[in-house]
Amino acid sequence: MFKQFISLIFLVFLLTMSVCFAEQETEQESADAAVEIDLDLGEEINEVCAGCHGEFGQGGKAGEYPRLAGLPAQYIIQQVKNFKSEKRKNMPMRPYANDRELPDEDIPSIAAYLSQIKLTSKMPEFDENTSAYEKLLIAKKVFNIARVEGDVELGKELYVDDCKLCHGKNGKGKEGSETPPLSGQYTEYMTRQIKHFATGERWHEYAEDLFEEMEPEEIQAIMAYLSTTDD
Ligand code: HEC
Ligand code: HEC
Repeated sequence: MFKQFISLIFLVFLLTMSVCFAEQETEQESADAAVEIDLDLGEEINEVCAGCHGEFGQGGKAGEYPRLAGLPAQYIIQQVKNFKSEKRKNMPMRPYANDRELPDEDIPSIAAYLSQIKLTSKMPEFDENTSAYEKLLIAKKVFNIARVEGDVELGKELYVDDCKLCHGKNGKGKEGSETPPLSGQYTEYMTRQIKHFATGERWHEYAEDLFEEMEPEEIQAIMAYLSTTDD
């Protein structure tokens, strides 16, 4: 009898252990699934984003909607999470950046999709074999920031002194960093962000030192310089 009792206890013990292991495994599986990147899913989600940010993430309406194409995936992920938590306020995106419309596990896929879109700043040379349709497709991905009036030399000096360390040489950003490139981004959009940094409406490292005392002509000069960096 005692022997039977012991084996029953042992059996229960084994069963509990196996259930525990099984649970651990499914937890592990869903953790793996959470970081899985699915570019097809990204493309599908982008149909929603495209309504404002454009088919190729090129942004639009003169900088009301920022360019997303080519931004570091980590940066896009972080910003979308900031919109969700409202750490960064964004009224237009409120209906799209919430758990129902954009669950956390989908964010890496849309970020990776947007990040790998390459826009060119110049129309390439075509030979006679290029069809009109191909030309049209390529033309849609040509994107160049219009030159901005202002003191380009001063802007470059200010940029090199105060911004280059993080935003990289010529505003190109840094590979694998969470800091966005500034080259190829809309002037109007960036000027608006800088105002938000100065008032604290949006967070930026050292915003007080960098932006609160900045004169409008200095912002203009930095924008003039940056507008030359994607030609
Ligand atoms: C209804 C219009 C609208 C839609 C749809 C929309 N966005 Fe936006 N998005 C905006 C606006 C406006 C801003 C700029 C907010 C600001 O000025 O700070 C923005 C900013 C962003 C930024 C910040 C870019 C940067 O350089 O910091 C990211 C990332 C972004 N959107 C991702 C997305 C993704 C991903 C989707 C699709 C799931 C999406 N947006 C759909 C309007 C929209
Ligand atoms: C210490 C590093 C650092 C320095 C120095 C710095 N930045 Fe930034 N900047 C960042 C980071 C990180 C972000 C992203 C902030 C966030 O997470 O929302 C950013 C964001 C921005 C954005 C918003 C871009 C976008 O796509 O929304 C602008 C514009 C900008 N910085 C301009 C500047 C300018 C101009 C200077 C120099 C006067 C400067 N920054 C200096 C790190 C830096």
